Amino acid sequence: MKLFLDSAKIDEIRHALAVWDVDGLTTNPRHVQETGKSFRTVLEEIADLFEGTGKPVSVEVDPHLIEASEIVRQGVELARLSPNFVVKVGASEAGFQAIRELAANGIRTNATLIFSVAQGWHAARAGATYISPFVGWKETYADAAADLIPQLATMLRVHGYGSQIIAAAIRNGRQIADAAVAGAHCVTAGFAVYKDSFRHPYTTMGEGIFQAAWDATPTDVAEGNGRSPAAAAARDEASR
Ligand code: E4P
Repeated sequence: MKLFLDSAKIDEIRHALAVWDVDGLTTNPRHVQETGKSFRTVLEEIADLFEGTGKPVSVEVDPHLIEASEIVRQGVELARLSPNFVVKVGASEAGFQAIRELAANGIRTNATLIFSVAQGWHAARAGATYISPFVGWKETYADAAADLIPQLATMLRVHGYGSQIIAAAIRNGRQIADAAVAGAHCVTAGFAVYKDSFRHPYTTMGEGIFQAAWDATPTDVAEGNGRSPAAAAARDEASR
């Protein structure tokens, strides 16, 4: 399962590329707003960061656009800004029509705000490269979320659609695991969610236990200088 960062913040993206080797990026209007910069500035900065990586970056069209022709026009403009850009289009009748036209023009798309298998099916039929079910939003509104990704995965597989599922609006490590087991091709989550997913209270506890044991044990290990008991035994053996 590919790991995408869901953000528009340059420092977070730099870290995610350098340390986690993320497979791609997703943004949305709210993420861009949080940067305090203009839409165009943020897109240019992100395009620079991803230049030459071949990694996809989802960039959303103006969510006010309700005509397919307008969505297509803006999608084409966005796709021209960077070969990494994937045009993110909201799930709607016009949105799926726009996805079909963009796909026919070789432009990759991400069908966003997907909450049902029927919407995912429309997106897949239209030729969406990615389909983004918002798992966290369903859970926030007490809607049954557990079946959505497995059912989308089954629908895509049974009918041979080429779209990839991006499990989106992910809030915790359990949802990442559920998405992976359910067959999502990619997951996208915010910086803090991934940071948290590296940790576990038992790991912290275990490190404490092992550090205490280490401190209570006579040892000559000094920053890898070969003075460990194992290294000394190996030297003894070699000198015999
Ligand atoms: C996904 O592509 C979306 O950008 C994202 O997951 C939206 O949800 P959030 O901003 O509430 O996490």
